[in-house]
Amino acid sequence: MRVGLVYTDTNKRNSLFDPHGNIQTNNTVAAIKSALENKNHEVIMIPADIDMLIKIKEKNLDVIFNACTGIKNKKEQANVVAMLELLDIPFVGSGLSSHIFGLHKEISKVLFRKMGIPTPNSQLFYSDDTKLDGNLRFPLIVKPEHEGSSLGIDNESVVYNEKALYEKIKEVIDKFNQPALVEEYVNGREFTIGILGDKDIQVFEILEVIYSKMEVNFMTVSIKAKDAAGYECPANIDKELEVKLKEYAKRAFRALELRDYARADVRLDRYNNPYFIEINTLPGLEPGYSDFPKMAEKSGLKYDDLIEKLVLLAYNRGKK
Ligand SMILES: Nc1ncnc2c1ncn2[C@@H]1O[C@H](COP(=O)(O)OP(=O)(O)O)[C@@H](O)[C@H]1O
Ligand SMILES: [Mg+2]
Repeated sequence: MRVGLVYTDTNKRNSLFDPHGNIQTNNTVAAIKSALENKNHEVIMIPADIDMLIKIKEKNLDVIFNACTGIKNKKEQANVVAMLELLDIPFVGSGLSSHIFGLHKEISKVLFRKMGIPTPNSQLFYSDDTKLDGNLRFPLIVKPEHEGSSLGIDNESVVYNEKALYEKIKEVIDKFNQPALVEEYVNGREFTIGILGDKDIQVFEILEVIYSKMEVNFMTVSIKAKDAAGYECPANIDKELEVKLKEYAKRAFRALELRDYARADVRLDRYNNPYFIEINTLPGLEPGYSDFPKMAEKSGLKYDDLIEKLVLLAYNRGKK
């Protein structure tokens, strides 16, 4: 097939907040390209920009692999999907509304709650002079409402009193120019769950994120950048919890009307009750680094097969 690979040209990106992102993006794009070539597809490279649609139309593509995480910043990943939806060519991954639901953590949580998927109690702060909801219990975690890659999460993000809470809320709003999401901090084990498919969906072996010997047991921007946390996949959990997590993950995938692939982040409380934190609509695909290909491999899908599978999901959808 003729596959158009739409990607972020890292020279155009504003990497003020995410200096490590450029290397990861370049590695990922190179890996997807070579996986497609290994599967005998013809790959046409398409750097995402505002006039790419005209260029794409001239290329006579069968399918598009969208690996673009935004032109200048992360939020624009939805804009790129919006552009691709205007074409009559199927593309890998979710549609526009699903990306928006997924990018906005509080919107995802509203959908989780509607579908009976447990998620931590939360409050959105548009300014730092709003009263704290009396139902929320410390410790709380403060994070930007629509970022990713742990941006805005550091050792001081979990707060134990109102003074620290409001300092952090102000910092997040000022620095990221968006509302601060305050959530009850769920202190137990952390898992990430990979979901693959379209109408028929499959859940990969679950991956546990392991924070032993770390200063904190949550994913800060520095732990993430250094790739310092350990992991275990398949996670060592009992069957009952595994079944429950997989069932909730499928429900979350449907709640946001996702397509092809996604990755959910989950924490347990001290009684081992799961809470869904977020669902990533464009999970990382960097071999050897990103969780999604690790989970795929543990579930019997090697990297090249995973990329091929994604392309076929999109292509078959387009034929209907
Ligand atoms: N309510 C919470 N309870 C416990 N840990 C949390 C909570 N929210 C976020 N975290 C921690 O912060 C990390 C990043 O938060 P997340 O909402 O997944 O943002 P990102 O989009 O940056 O990945 C999580 O992987 C987890 O370690
Ligand atoms: Mg996350």
